[in-house]
Amino acid sequence: MNFIIAVDGPAASGKGTVAGALARHYGLPYLDTGLLYRAVGVHAQAAGGLDEATAAAVAQDLNAALLDHPKARTREAGEWASRVAAHPTVRAALLDYQHQFAGQHGGAVLDGRDIGTVIAPQAPAKLFVTATPEVRASRRWKQLIEQGEQVSYDDMLADILCRDERDRGRSTAPLVRAADAALLDTSEVTIELAFREARRLVEEALGR
Ligand code: DC
Repeated sequence: MNFIIAVDGPAASGKGTVAGALARHYGLPYLDTGLLYRAVGVHAQAAGGLDEATAAAVAQDLNAALLDHPKARTREAGEWASRVAAHPTVRAALLDYQHQFAGQHGGAVLDGRDIGTVIAPQAPAKLFVTATPEVRASRRWKQLIEQGEQVSYDDMLADILCRDERDRGRSTAPLVRAADAALLDTSEVTIELAFREARRLVEEALGR
């Protein structure tokens, strides 16, 4: 069985931090799949809009150079990503790349919304990372302020709630906890504690 760790969860839940730390700990390659959707969002917006045809054409031609966009980590890119991610043909265009990454020899860590349910349902270790919307809004707000963006906490909370609703409510690959994913609530723990608990849950899953 390939050592795949699937990490899913809503925006700013801490899944990226946990997934990155697990990848370093186990010496595995790591893919932040949100970045694929963010890149599609940014380039589709520049190419004329977030409609399905434009976004799917961008997704079909996505390559490493396009992923490295200075706007990819901005607030608006998160919103565009969530919107293009609801188009089934966009998701379909990004499947091969994610499957190949997950299937590489020796294993991999991937984080996103549908890793444990769609991309790698066979993963032996799955985590669903969550935190309250208020904690997530506060984390994302601090990150964006540090990046130099002007945004209020209230607007950030509204963004997070809207993104949760869209990501959970879409018909293709919605954000949902896989039946066999272990829950990790990071609302009240430090990064170190979250990582320690994540490791424990992974070891527990592997021992099953
Ligand atoms: O993880 P993130 O916040 O960078 O993701 C941005 C958006 O991309 C998210 O709101 C929904 C979408 N996404 C997705 O639909 N499926 C994934 N596997 C990863 C991200």
